[in-house]
Amino acid sequence: MKLFDVYPINNIAIVKAKGSNVWDDKGEQYLDLYGGHAVISIGHTHPHYVERITNQLNKVGFYSNSVKMPLQEELAEKLGTISGKPDYQLFLISSGAEANENALKLASFYNGRKKIIAFKKSFHGRTSLAVAATDNPSIVAPVNQTSNVIFLPFNDVAALEACFAEQGSEISSVIIEGIQGVGGINVASELFLQTIRRLCDAHGAVYIADSVQCGYGRSGKFFSHDFAGVNADIYTMAKGMGNGFPVAGIIIAPHLQPKHGMLGTTFGGNHLACAAALAVLEVIEKENLVQNAAEVGQYLMDELKKIPQLQNVRGRGLMIGFDVPEQYKDLRKNLLWKHRIFTGEAKPNVIRLLPSLALRKKDADQLLEAIKEEVQVGAEA
Ligand SMILES: Cc1ncc(COP(=O)(O)O)c(C=O)c1O
Repeated sequence: MKLFDVYPINNIAIVKAKGSNVWDDKGEQYLDLYGGHAVISIGHTHPHYVERITNQLNKVGFYSNSVKMPLQEELAEKLGTISGKPDYQLFLISSGAEANENALKLASFYNGRKKIIAFKKSFHGRTSLAVAATDNPSIVAPVNQTSNVIFLPFNDVAALEACFAEQGSEISSVIIEGIQGVGGINVASELFLQTIRRLCDAHGAVYIADSVQCGYGRSGKFFSHDFAGVNADIYTMAKGMGNGFPVAGIIIAPHLQPKHGMLGTTFGGNHLACAAALAVLEVIEKENLVQNAAEVGQYLMDELKKIPQLQNVRGRGLMIGFDVPEQYKDLRKNLLWKHRIFTGEAKPNVIRLLPSLALRKKDADQLLEAIKEEVQVGAEA
């Protein structure tokens, strides 16, 4: 059998990983500033994470949501404390798309409405509603197309106000990434998020904070939406939550009340997933990783801004992007193949940095040196 060939892949087989480094099958070492797409939060194969998952696997790996799950309660308690949202309710699933799918559905159950406001350059996943709210027609199949999603320009307060003035009573939810990831690292302004809060309150709509990529401490706060000083009604989270183990969640404000059978999943919140997610939160807390993301991220961003060839360096914490001028269009490729540094990209010319939240300054320096060398070579060419 062949694989269904949907991924453009690098010809590298990773066989070992530790902290912010990975090794290929030829023994070559790489610096991982991509984290398998913002997934590695506490660092690869962290000993506490490995131990907690291993111990759990030796006790019970899986049972479904038909029995009591003290581990889920432990996770909800810890997540409530660390995220600063102790009065929210946790529902567990297994991927980011599933998190957004359930959030959008829950909002619609809550207010009985159908319309969703999403934003230009958004990415919310590939399942039916999540992909319909994603601004990329090439991944929306005909069966996913719906007139229920309204796309507005990002960070445009006037357009949002006009839309609510016209259709406010029909809007079920507004879904927004605090920092757009796939769209190229675009930070939502504090005023924009505050306006979403105000308009949702005024019109009975639900504010959904897609924190799948920008959440879980990556921005230097637990949720990047926290910078605006307002709470969302639902936060969706995935990537960093399990450090590679497929676990995702939505946390739900107290006024959104559950009903048996309203939402459900087989795999979500199983014993192993909870052990992985608890291990991640324990390490984030013990090693002050949100603080580290803020500090090392600020250092990296300040230093990147000093490299004149890079344009529009932006982001928050360890979610950083910059534009690469045409002259240096091979920069990302050269970082990987010459300097053995994994980075992410966003079309057409953005390099995205999504490393572990435990990144050290010396790892950041390794990248900075490599970029300086490359732009020097590019300038001489
Ligand atoms: C902001 C955002 N939301 C949702 C998703 C979908 O997550 P998943 O691939 O786990 O379904 C992604 C994935 O890149 C994302 O970046």
